[in-house]
Amino acid sequence: MTTIIEAGERLAGQLVAFRRDLHQFPELSFQESETAAKVARELERLGVPFRTGVGGHGIVADIKGEQPGPVIALRADMDALPIEEESGEAFSSTRPGVMHACGHDAHTAILLGAAELLKERVTTGTVRLLFQSAEEINAGAKAMVAEGALEGVDEIYGLHNGPNLPAGVAATRYGSLMGSVDRIEISIEGKGGHGAIPDQSIDPVVCASAIVMGLQTIVSRELSPFSPAVVTIGSIQAGNANNVIPHRAELTGTVRTFAPEVQATMKERIARIVRQIADGYRCKAELRYIEQVPVLVNHDQCVAHVERVIEQMIGAERRLDSEPTLAGEDFSIYLNHVPGCFFWIGSSPLDNAEQSYGLHHPKYTLNEACIPLGASLLAEIALQRLHWGELSND
Ligand code: NI
Repeated sequence: MTTIIEAGERLAGQLVAFRRDLHQFPELSFQESETAAKVARELERLGVPFRTGVGGHGIVADIKGEQPGPVIALRADMDALPIEEESGEAFSSTRPGVMHACGHDAHTAILLGAAELLKERVTTGTVRLLFQSAEEINAGAKAMVAEGALEGVDEIYGLHNGPNLPAGVAATRYGSLMGSVDRIEISIEGKGGHGAIPDQSIDPVVCASAIVMGLQTIVSRELSPFSPAVVTIGSIQAGNANNVIPHRAELTGTVRTFAPEVQATMKERIARIVRQIADGYRCKAELRYIEQVPVLVNHDQCVAHVERVIEQMIGAERRLDSEPTLAGEDFSIYLNHVPGCFFWIGSSPLDNAEQSYGLHHPKYTLNEACIPLGASLLAEIALQRLHWGELSND
């Protein structure tokens, strides 16, 4: 009898080689054409039918059993980030300014590994594999759903590597796991003039400063201390001389929340503060509020299923309760359409996981042991959901 974990381990060499190849040739969001071609080649080798070009360079592949049954989706993201790699790995990025700094190369390899494990094991229902474009710009999931990737899907599962968790563990959480992401753009118009004669100008810089400070009171004075939220102004552009009052100021920021009902209130709060402070400073202000990603809320029965499978496969002591994070993840879009669960697998390259470089860091590296384990976990999660049964064996 071979367990699916052992079967996954046998694929380790091949999956790691595939991941390292993607790592050397990373592609930015919506530009993943080579990556998608490599995935397509592997699916062809496995004899799994698929369609390409779904939501950008996304691929949808179905592994069908003989008997009809539920459709369980598994998802991996494929895109890289505009970061110059400084990891020092022998297989570092060959493309200046582009890096797989979030481990989506590993996620892609994991899902291909799951495909290989599932190919001979699915007898009932269908496992649908979603290889997704453009997660990093919060656009790929939306595009895949719009092009029918979830049609007929009953449940969906996915994972992200966690470099601050020890390799060999998995972490789950009921309810909200990751935050919502909205973008704000604020244009403030004053009246430019001489820096020494402020009475003949309307200063958008002072107004912008007051708005930055005022926005902080949404979190500190308006929301419950038990409702996590963040309002960060990440860029301020105004003027280019020390003695000139500029005509305009432009701000951009990010808004994060941890509950859909809080996210729904943020636009009104920000609009009110921007408008009324601008009025107070005699400026005209315009707010563009762009909703990007909803809160990632796991579904209880799917979390229970994932926890049961993890504990059967690697032991209860290697399943942790995940900390919440306000980082966003567009897997949340799928969860607004069908039930499912997103979870973490440990990928720390160090014994002391807390000292690892985090996601999106130029020195980020990943422990490749998470790749075969992730493949086995995803495959088993899907299989048990299809067969409603026991831990599968060869
Ligand atoms: Ni990521």
